[in-house]
Amino acid sequence: MSKGFSIFNSHLQLAHLYWKHLLSQADWVIDATCGSGFDCAYLTTLVPKGRVIAIDIQEYAIKKTSLLVKEKNTEHVVDFFLQSHENFPEVVRSHPIKLIVYNLGYLPSGDRSVVTNATSSMKSIETAATLLAPGGALSVMCYPGHQEGEEEETALAYFFRSLSPKNWHVCHHRWPQRPKTPSLFLAQKIEF
Ligand SMILES: C[S@@+](CC[C@H](N)C(=O)[O-])C[C@H]1O[C@@H](n2cnc3c(N)ncnc32)[C@H](O)[C@@H]1O
Repeated sequence: MSKGFSIFNSHLQLAHLYWKHLLSQADWVIDATCGSGFDCAYLTTLVPKGRVIAIDIQEYAIKKTSLLVKEKNTEHVVDFFLQSHENFPEVVRSHPIKLIVYNLGYLPSGDRSVVTNATSSMKSIETAATLLAPGGALSVMCYPGHQEGEEEETALAYFFRSLSPKNWHVCHHRWPQRPKTPSLFLAQKIEF
C-alpha cells in the first residue's frame, strides 16, 4: 500500500484500512475469530484505550493470539474467550461495541478441520448486528474457495441484502473474474 489507497487491495488490506478509519482510541471491538492473532494484534494498536474481545473455538488460536499481543505489548487491551462465537460473552453487553470482525474459514497453521460454517456463522453475525452501537460496523472476510466458505458467502449475501438501506450501509468487495477469491462484506449501522 505504498501509494496509499487502492480499491484493488486484498480483502485483508481493505478491511484493515476500513477499521483504521472507523475506530477511535477508546472504542470496544470484538474479534470473533482471532486465529493466529494478526487481525487482533492490529486492532489492539487502533484502540489502545479501549478493549478487544477476542474469541476463538480453538485453544491453539487463543494461545497464538495471546503470544502475539504480548510481543507487541498490547495484551492489556485484550480479553480472551475460548468458545464458539455462536454465543457472545456477557461482557459485550456492558459497553457499546463499535466494530465486530470475522475472518472466516480455518487457521492455515492449525487444525483445518476446525472451520467456520454457514449455520453457526450466520447465528453469530445476526446477533452481532444487534450488538453494534449506532455508527458501528460489521466486517466479514469470507473464503469461497472451499465448500463451507462458498456456503457462507451465499448465506452472508442473502443476510446483508435483507438489511434495510434506511438503517444500514452495506457493501461487498469481490472479484467477478475470480469468484473463488476471498471477499469482504462491510456493513455500517447508520447513526441518526
Ligand atoms: C481464518 S482463521 C482467523 C484468522 C485470524 N483472524 C488471524 O488474523 O490470524 C478462522 C478462525 O476461526 C476459528 N473458528 C472456527 N469456528 C469457530 C466458531 N464457531 N467460533 C469461534 N471461532 C471459530 C478457527 O479456530 C480459526 O482460528
